[in-house]
Amino acid sequence: MLWQMHNVDALSWLSEQTSAEFDALATDPPYSSGGLHTKDRVKDSANNKYLNTPALYPEFAGENRDQYSYLHWSVLWLTEAHRLLRPGSPVLLFSDWRQLPTMTTALQAAGFVWRGVVAWDKTEANRPQKGRFRQQSEFVIWGSKGPWHDKDGPTHPGVFRFAVNAGGRKLHTTGKPLPLMEALVKVCPSGTVLDPFAGSGTTGVAAVRSGRRFVGCEREEAYYKIACERLSMAL
Ligand SMILES: C[S@@+](CC[C@H](N)C(=O)[O-])C[C@H]1O[C@@H](n2cnc3c(N)ncnc32)[C@H](O)[C@@H]1O
Repeated sequence: MLWQMHNVDALSWLSEQTSAEFDALATDPPYSSGGLHTKDRVKDSANNKYLNTPALYPEFAGENRDQYSYLHWSVLWLTEAHRLLRPGSPVLLFSDWRQLPTMTTALQAAGFVWRGVVAWDKTEANRPQKGRFRQQSEFVIWGSKGPWHDKDGPTHPGVFRFAVNAGGRKLHTTGKPLPLMEALVKVCPSGTVLDPFAGSGTTGVAAVRSGRRFVGCEREEAYYKIACERLSMAL
């Protein structure tokens, strides 16, 4: 089977798996960024947070944890993912500027070696802020389970510049551009890429189009269906 999608809660599913059979973790979890006050934390609408027109995309949850619980939850699922990866597997973990300290801590607490941060430059199309710097980048925290798997391969860029809708209009509120994911999965060995927070399945499409296999989890049924449809057409 080239790909599998599971319509499940990621942490429950990961903790039920018994064998270490994945060769890379590449994922874009909910950022839970900015949930400082009670009013932010009771509003479980990611679309209201991210979009001027919330009805454009199906809703998704999991965006309203406070810092402390976000760190704790991230350590839990990353620890399960670590257990299921083969030694040497790379990990690629999306985050924004607010959550960089939390997620780099969570990655290491779960047992991974933290190796660096790749910048995704989203171009000038993004978030102007008068008198301040443009919010123009997101980040990919990267590392590995023990020693890095590839000592002889090509050097990959440390900065990628793609507009949010590069390669076609995104299919998820916070969907990532396919050309970005295609560039990122190049560091993964041939084998199976795991994405516990698959959303519309962009990581999976990039993985299978490059000859890798893919296993994804997505809790929201609407996005699970979009991901399955995209994956079945990916080749
Ligand atoms: C940032 S989005 C991923 C978007 C994806 N990279 C794409 O390009 O479409 C994170 C996804 O994780 C899902 N999610 C949040 N909490 C989850 C959980 N506990 N288990 C499984 N999926 C979850 C959300 O529904 C959301 O679709």
